[in-house]
Amino acid sequence: MEADGADWSSGVDPTKASVARIYDYFLGGTHNFSTDRDVARTLEAIEPRARLITRANRAFLARATRFLAAEAGVRQFIDIGSGIPTQGNVHEIVQGVDPAARVVYVDHDPVAVAHSTAILAGNQNATVVQADLRDAHEILEHSTVQRMIDFSRPVGLLLVAVLHFIADEDRPASIVARLRDGLAPGSHLVLSHGTHQNHAETTEAVSKVYRRAVTQANAQARSREEILGFFDGFELVEPGLVQGPLWRPDTPADVPEDVERYWFLGGVGRR
Ligand SMILES: C[S@@+](CC[C@H](N)C(=O)[O-])C[C@H]1O[C@@H](n2cnc3c(N)ncnc32)[C@H](O)[C@@H]1O
Repeated sequence: MEADGADWSSGVDPTKASVARIYDYFLGGTHNFSTDRDVARTLEAIEPRARLITRANRAFLARATRFLAAEAGVRQFIDIGSGIPTQGNVHEIVQGVDPAARVVYVDHDPVAVAHSTAILAGNQNATVVQADLRDAHEILEHSTVQRMIDFSRPVGLLLVAVLHFIADEDRPASIVARLRDGLAPGSHLVLSHGTHQNHAETTEAVSKVYRRAVTQANAQARSREEILGFFDGFELVEPGLVQGPLWRPDTPADVPEDVERYWFLGGVGRR
């Protein structure tokens, strides 16, 4: 049991690794089993920067979310593939700007949903829904999403480090387009994605580990052009689609010297 009283591991098979729990491990969280840690260590043997890259992705998410709330005036958010929030969560960031800002987290992982449920208890303006990104219709039509989100007003849609777990055969670009078509003008897409550009060997080895060790993780990195394609119908805001640490760093000193080794691209688009 956690200090907050949530039994996050109840009913979860500890012998099957999960993307959400591996990510939690890389972020220094405690919602993971030895199976997850074993996979994480295999990944670290391939990519010793795994933790740094994970944290840089999380930092990108925080900066982009703050931009949406503080500069673009967005007041409602759907964060799909939200994971197991440790700190710097979307609701903390946006409700820090406006306590009335609304957030719906969406993940298919039961531990992510259980933990989000626990930390959001008592927060009237934030909630979590268990759903699969591959069924965009289900997400858009979900009764909780419909209750929390006013689709006639701008929405911040977050697809951060999740689309690289959707295989080509599941047509990720169509999924994003389906979600986009439900959004009012002024809505924003925040997206990050692993890229194989200049990192083909590492990203293929990492993807292989995920595909072999994690059920439901059809991991694959994509080219810059493919990732740009997810922004179809959105106008990228400055500085465009860049390596995550280069997206509006708080200070130049925050950009690692070896930034080219951070093989994920991040961007924000405006509808
Ligand atoms: C690498 S984590 C990213 C978490 C968070 N978005 C971030 O960037 O800090 C990916 C998350 O996407 C979730 N996920 C993967 N495939 C999904 C799917 N088809 N539907 C919903 N969630 C999915 C995983 O369970 C995991 O929590």
